Amino acid sequence: MPLIRAASIADVQAIARVDVETWRTTYAGILPDHVLVEMSPRHRSAFWTRFVTRHPGDVIVAVDSRNQVLGFGSCGTQRDDCLPSGGEIFSIYVQPDQQGLGIGRQLLLSLFFRLVQNGHKACMLWVLDRNPSRFFYERLGGRVVARQTLSYGGREVGASAYAWADLPETLNSRGRARSPTE
Ligand SMILES: CC(C)(COP(=O)(O)OP(=O)(O)OC[C@H]1O[C@@H](n2cnc3c(N)ncnc32)[C@H](O)[C@@H]1OP(=O)(O)O)[C@@H](O)C(=O)NCCC(=O)NCCS
Repeated sequence: MPLIRAASIADVQAIARVDVETWRTTYAGILPDHVLVEMSPRHRSAFWTRFVTRHPGDVIVAVDSRNQVLGFGSCGTQRDDCLPSGGEIFSIYVQPDQQGLGIGRQLLLSLFFRLVQNGHKACMLWVLDRNPSRFFYERLGGRVVARQTLSYGGREVGASAYAWADLPETLNSRGRARSPTE
């Protein structure tokens, strides 16, 4: 079973690699090719270095016994106040050959745990409508509360906001939440 822990600066290159790889596999045919081709692990490393530095504890990784990053997620205070959620999941990505093994569930519940620790009772996230991951969120109890159209590289894509209104209750009922190892 992978270890779920807070990310450190030492993890950012591996996080960026998983980030770029999963974007390319997940969004091929959904987002314009040039958006995916132009993604750069170097730029994503710089982004994740800033995020981990500014928000220690808000990026969580799943690592194997050799400390290799298999997946990651990030969370924090909701970016806009159109929904009364408080917390937001900004990203959750499991590398393609590790999907469907329960890692995403552990990451999501650990992000919920982190948000509750930071005083958020509820949270939401945005997912593109054509991304089958929305069924993962439904499986974990998320409910659609809003929709919007986003623009990526000149293409308009529909997105839905999934929300969890009672994170402590979700953590209790889903049972397998663990505090990320600091
Ligand atoms: C979405 C993602 C994080 C889920 O993680 P995962 O490790 O593959 O999912 P898990 O194995 O923990 O699945 C948990 C449950 O959700 C279900 N599930 C997961 N993905 C699903 C899908 N695409 N469709 C239907 N059900 C799904 C699983 O069957 C499992 O159900 P169970 O309760 O019966 O066991 C992962 O697949 C991923 O990184 N996908 C590509 C990137 C992505 O789209 N990220 C989200 C961006 S908004």
